[in-house]
Amino acid sequence: MSKLENLVAQAKGILRTNDLGGYTVPTKGLYPFQWNWDAGVTALGWLYVDEARAWTEFDKLFEGQWDNGMVPHIVFHQESDDYFPGPDQWKVEGNPPTTSISQPPLLATMVRIIYEQSKDKDLAQAKLDALMPKLIRYHEWWYRERDPETTGLVSSYHPWESGMDNSPAWDDVLQRVPQVTRPYQRRDLNHVDSKQRPLKEQYDRYIYLVDFFRENDFDYQKIYQNCPFHTQDISLNAVLQRGTIDLIHLNTLASVAADMTSLEASVAKAEEVFPSLWDAERHLFLNRDQALEKAIPVSTSGGFMPLYSYSATPEQAALMAAEIKEWLVLGPSGLASTSPLESTFDAKRYWRGPSWLHINWMIADGLKHYGHDDVAEQLRQASRAIIEQSGYFEYFDPITGEGCGGKDFSWTAAIALHWLL
Ligand code: GLC
Repeated sequence: MSKLENLVAQAKGILRTNDLGGYTVPTKGLYPFQWNWDAGVTALGWLYVDEARAWTEFDKLFEGQWDNGMVPHIVFHQESDDYFPGPDQWKVEGNPPTTSISQPPLLATMVRIIYEQSKDKDLAQAKLDALMPKLIRYHEWWYRERDPETTGLVSSYHPWESGMDNSPAWDDVLQRVPQVTRPYQRRDLNHVDSKQRPLKEQYDRYIYLVDFFRENDFDYQKIYQNCPFHTQDISLNAVLQRGTIDLIHLNTLASVAADMTSLEASVAKAEEVFPSLWDAERHLFLNRDQALEKAIPVSTSGGFMPLYSYSATPEQAALMAAEIKEWLVLGPSGLASTSPLESTFDAKRYWRGPSWLHINWMIADGLKHYGHDDVAEQLRQASRAIIEQSGYFEYFDPITGEGCGGKDFSWTAAIALHWLL
């Protein structure tokens, strides 16, 4: 077997191993359920293994959709002692049980890619038709409940909602969240070296928020008014913007077209406000702190995500492409999640430095859209080199390429199949 064939076989094997029957766990042990944005990325990988199975990944995730349209960040399809906080902590009634927050909504974009690349067109059409009303309800939920004042930017209430859990961008906001005082037992440290995971102090605040949502009856108005963690996450907003653009396109392909007027207005509104988050000195976009009503001055890879949502001007895109090249000089093994020049940069600690393959892919996709194919290709080569060197880890030290976190990771394998191999 050639090296390439071997890498492909390994990636496919990881998806099969992590398949628990219609849904794929991110990795066994550490993350034993179905996660929202992992499911989207992983479905893309299934396209290269078993096309019908790619569609099932969405079907299973939407089993957890709430009546208000929200698609939760975790769907607890079965019990497991490997993870904390589980369903008994979130206390969301429903079958299957779920968490009470969401994650970056990239599902519509993944559905579009899979639909366009599918070979079984009848199946793809049937699946698209069935998924459309669910996706539309999900996107409408974001704008209705997470931007009730129609500012053009949706709010996030938990670092986990960003998918970039312990990013230094959240440090100051998280300081305003009290530390929970009740005892609890983390399970992640049974699986991964504590140096590569968030700190206890952060976990105390994460768990406080879990309790806070429940104590506020999951009521979006109460949470919007009172949540001590309240941000406008630039990456999540970019993923939503791109997702809605793709959803509007998918509507033209569906057998029955829906009325997209309100979603079109949301896209236009977001387009108006993205420029307010551009930072002319840092050459990227910034997250926003809702309580202080100002941008959060920390350079993270999320700040390049407006490339992926087509929300930058050509001049901004060129400045971001140049900035990315500089980050790649300092950390050549994929794009660092936090700028290597930030004092909070930590090469192995989760979202404080490591590079993540799906982020590299989305940013490369945006770079290509703006004609920066050379930088996109540099990112692709860098990403490919790390899997050749280290295999399919959860994330990678951007300086040495060393694999960190969980092993045999589904979205890493999926992105490799879709983008690298
Ligand atoms: C971590 C990551 C998040 C991911 C989840 C499952 O919480 O920060 O982005 O979705 O693990 O892989």
